[in-house]
Amino acid sequence: MDAIVIDKLSKTHRPAWPWQQAVTTLHEVSLSVGYGEIFGFLGPNGAGKTTTMKIVLGLMRATTGTVELLGRPALDVDVHKSIGYLPESPYFYDYLTAEEFLWFYGRLGQVNPSDLQQRIPTLLAQVGLTEARYRPLRKFSKGMLQRIGLAQALIHDPQLVMLDEPMSGLDPVGRKDVRDIILGLRDQGKTIFFSTHIISDVEMICDRVGILAKGRMVTVGSMDELVNRNVAQSVEVICEGIDGESIPLVKEVAMRVLQRGNRCWMALPGQQRLEEVLAAVRQAGGRLVSIIPHKGSLEEIFLERTSQRT
Ligand SMILES: Nc1ncnc2c1ncn2[C@@H]1O[C@H](COP(=O)(O)OP(=O)(O)O)[C@@H](O)[C@H]1O
Ligand SMILES: [Mg+2]
Repeated sequence: MDAIVIDKLSKTHRPAWPWQQAVTTLHEVSLSVGYGEIFGFLGPNGAGKTTTMKIVLGLMRATTGTVELLGRPALDVDVHKSIGYLPESPYFYDYLTAEEFLWFYGRLGQVNPSDLQQRIPTLLAQVGLTEARYRPLRKFSKGMLQRIGLAQALIHDPQLVMLDEPMSGLDPVGRKDVRDIILGLRDQGKTIFFSTHIISDVEMICDRVGILAKGRMVTVGSMDELVNRNVAQSVEVICEGIDGESIPLVKEVAMRVLQRGNRCWMALPGQQRLEEVLAAVRQAGGRLVSIIPHKGSLEEIFLERTSQRT
């Protein structure tokens, strides 16, 4: 069973005025997220990530399609107690201190006061804001606001955490802090679903990734699957003591062969015939120096997949 099951969600916005056309922003979006996974929801701006997340959270209605959260229909109110949410542009109460802010959301989430007294310092430590406990939020930097927003999303100890662009607007240190917090949450057994338009954010921490473009899922899978399935791998082999061009199998299989004196460099189109080539090299008296597999990066897939729809 999965923590999130989204099945063929479509969203058509009714026009504000009769002379306007209805706009469809989601087209049968389906994906699922397993328990304990970090799922990265990747897509360019305007792809429909926030819309999808709002529907999942029950903040907006889908035109068609269904969502199940933690094994229950998403509209089941009880389920919401187990979900934490960081909105895309959260509104912060400037004059509250960090502690008061968390206290406010904790009470809103029906956490009892004695639990809150324990939880608030723990959470502030978890997001690196212990020092700022009594500081008003108007004195917070962008990165600190993002971190207190994360603490807010976690105040009721939710099982499932939904974060809409949690790294947006942060500098590299801030991005790393947020990534570390997300990894820490997974270590606690939580399920994390977050959206981003930045490839490296998902590349570094996600177990699985879904790419959304123009309201359609273009691909979904584990990082390994995506990178291996979508982009041809090549393998770079360097040997010594042979003339690559003189070995028929090398000439047949390699895409390119370069000879630099005693050293031969070859590029193979994949792993399939690697062993054969290595055997031929050895038989010709060659010595293997290195084998470097080149995987396609998520960036290549992202660019390839999101440009197909334009
Ligand atoms: N109420 C609405 N009516 C019409 N179009 C909308 C409405 N809300 C959002 N959109 C459009 O839906 C698309 C997806 O928006 P959004 O979900 O915010 O994308 P993302 O979060 O991936 O940047 C955008 O093109 C946006 O203009
Ligand atoms: Mg958005």
